[in-house]
Amino acid sequence: MSGKNIKIISVGAAVQDVFLSHSEEFLPVSDTSTKEQFMKLELGAKADVNNITFATGGGATNAAVTFTRQGLHAVFMGTVGHDPAGQAVLDDLDQEGVDTSHISYSDKYNTGYSVLLLAPTGERTILTYRGASTHYHAKNFDIGTIDADWLYVSSMAGCFDVLDKLFSDAKRKGMKIMFNPGKRELAHPNKLRALLEDVDILSVNKEEMAQLVEGESSEELVVHALNYVKVAIVSDGPKGVCASDGKTIVKAGMYQDVKVIDRTGAGDAFGSGFLSQWATGASLVDSIVFASANSTSVVQYIGAKKGILHHGVKLHQMPLQEQQLKA
Ligand SMILES: Nc1ncnc2c1ncn2[C@@H]1O[C@H](COP(=O)(O)OP(=O)(O)OP(=O)(O)O)[C@@H](O)[C@H]1O
Ligand SMILES: [Mg+2]
Repeated sequence: MSGKNIKIISVGAAVQDVFLSHSEEFLPVSDTSTKEQFMKLELGAKADVNNITFATGGGATNAAVTFTRQGLHAVFMGTVGHDPAGQAVLDDLDQEGVDTSHISYSDKYNTGYSVLLLAPTGERTILTYRGASTHYHAKNFDIGTIDADWLYVSSMAGCFDVLDKLFSDAKRKGMKIMFNPGKRELAHPNKLRALLEDVDILSVNKEEMAQLVEGESSEELVVHALNYVKVAIVSDGPKGVCASDGKTIVKAGMYQDVKVIDRTGAGDAFGSGFLSQWATGASLVDSIVFASANSTSVVQYIGAKKGILHHGVKLHQMPLQEQQLKA
């Protein structure tokens, strides 16, 4: 299958991310009794910041950029406000060749906007206004007129009515579904599990999968998730990933030990990286290797999109084992 002819609709959040870094005031300080860490920011003080980076984010826009950089067609569907942040999102997507003609505007809310304070240690504190990226209306999510191969859904802020409509329309149209649910979907595990019967690929991190199915190890979690979906993927940050398509199970380690500058977008780069290969007919192992390389590249730059890999980049091997899944 050639990537050129594959079309993916990417649905979910679109936000502007503003990163402030290189500040003494963002150094972590510990509470000696509780061991909790804080940024030192003093109330009433003016803190100097020596670096600012404007970027755009939101899981669905990050995913759409992986798809186009890999030579696939991507349609972004989500809601922004009538404001400069919304324009910044659109400009980035246009520049990356993502189809933005199905975007909707909120008359009531501003575009989601996050200020990310990056500590010199790589830790971060995020101030976030979710705005238009939490108030979704089913009428704005009509995929009935789009002929796509896949529907990729990141968090829909717990709007289960919109998710129901999207998934049933996708199935009716013969599209496959990959889902990377967020906190507000995971807060309702019963409702979420009910949706999974339509889902082809479920990709979440280990903590998240543990909220959905029984299991201690990533392997157990993946095997149990296969009761709901065809392909289950559990990522565990720098510890690696476990995935199965019901035939074999793949356990992979770290793609490369890199210095993490900003982990924003790691999960998006992983999930979308996987689908950008799987959708073209790549094997489970090859899709995992690319997903790992894509996310490892993203964490080395400030912003969720900058490190997303372009088509044709040379990959290297990674620690990985594939076994037949026990019946
Ligand atoms: N410190 C790291 N070094 C190298 N790669 C990393 C690191 N952290 C994350 N990654 C890569 O990113 C992938 C996804 O990370 P993780 O399991 O933390 O996802 P996540 O918790 O869903 O992330 P997000 O918070 O973005 O949703 C990992 O499988 C790995 O390939
Ligand atoms: Mg995630």
